Amino acid sequence: MTDLFSPLNLGEIALSNRIVMSSLTRNRAGAGNVPTELAAEYYRQRASAGLILTEASPISPEGHGYPRTPGIHTPEQIAGWKKVTDAVHAAGGKIAIQLWHVGRISHPDLQPGGSLPVAPSALKPHGQAITYTGMKDYVTPRALEISEMPVLVSKYARAAENAMAAGFDGVEIHAGNGYLLDQFLRSSTNKRTDAYGGSRENRARLLLEVLEAVCSKIGHGKVGVRLSPVTPFNDISDDNPQDTFEYVVGELNRFDLAFLDLLQGTGGAAKEDWIPFDYERLRSIYRGKLIRNNDYDFETATRAVETGGADAIAFGRLLLANPDLVERFRRGASLNAPDYEKLYVGEEKGYTDYPFLAS
Ligand code: PHB
Repeated sequence: MTDLFSPLNLGEIALSNRIVMSSLTRNRAGAGNVPTELAAEYYRQRASAGLILTEASPISPEGHGYPRTPGIHTPEQIAGWKKVTDAVHAAGGKIAIQLWHVGRISHPDLQPGGSLPVAPSALKPHGQAITYTGMKDYVTPRALEISEMPVLVSKYARAAENAMAAGFDGVEIHAGNGYLLDQFLRSSTNKRTDAYGGSRENRARLLLEVLEAVCSKIGHGKVGVRLSPVTPFNDISDDNPQDTFEYVVGELNRFDLAFLDLLQGTGGAAKEDWIPFDYERLRSIYRGKLIRNNDYDFETATRAVETGGADAIAFGRLLLANPDLVERFRRGASLNAPDYEKLYVGEEKGYTDYPFLAS
């Protein structure tokens, strides 16, 4: 019987169990947005998960939208990540990097040369960016020119090559949560009238070009993608998410990817408040391996895997607070609670100091 502790191959990535660490922003990168030794320790502690998906990592200087997020576009960042992947591999784990471009969810203060953030359309998000000097209102971004698309696509491909140089087992293309690729996918943020906007086919074009380019550089068996069809996080929505995402997922089948990481629900909202969406339809359309994400516990995760509703389950908060979550699940042990005050601050506190079970 398949359960959470059963091994699983996601393309070329061999997992020893089906408990995946979800991508979690932690804002503890060092100077130059380089991952630190402390990050290597944090991820090493969690290496018993079948697969770690790293915190979102910008592919280029323009991809940044928050302080102290580790990039994957400079030699120093590649060297910093190499220490992370070495630590995870030495502990017997697998690790893929989440490739990120925030698009309009940024601020000139966080952009090279103080320029405007880029987006599919010049539409200002509601809300504020977190800058190095406090919260500042988002600005109206600059709409990308169609002539810039090949350069953007090549930056994803380059970042994927950098990820291989840094020793990662794979990459996850972040196309969710209201960031750049999601801004193209969803109708509220994409008002383009060229080949990259309008119909669902056009809105999906950039993501599909990115996947094509990344797969051709590093091989489809190392590439996953994250989608979050209905999260309103970062001021985003779609007129018909079911239609948009059924098309996107159908197109993903062409690539024979390592996995699809499907973030269900609407951010931190209570389950009763989730925008309705038929995830089972996506499951039936998608022919590859599916990781489901958000609000699972041991029982619901076990049921999802046992019934074939998912191939693996990603845990964020639980793995953040329980580095040995796999062992705790095995033993039915109690769980540490996350310290929400220290999600984005605190250096080692609330990061590498969560207790393991007494052995
Ligand atoms: C965040 O930094 O708040 C963040 C980053 C990536 C996500 C979600 C949230 O996908």
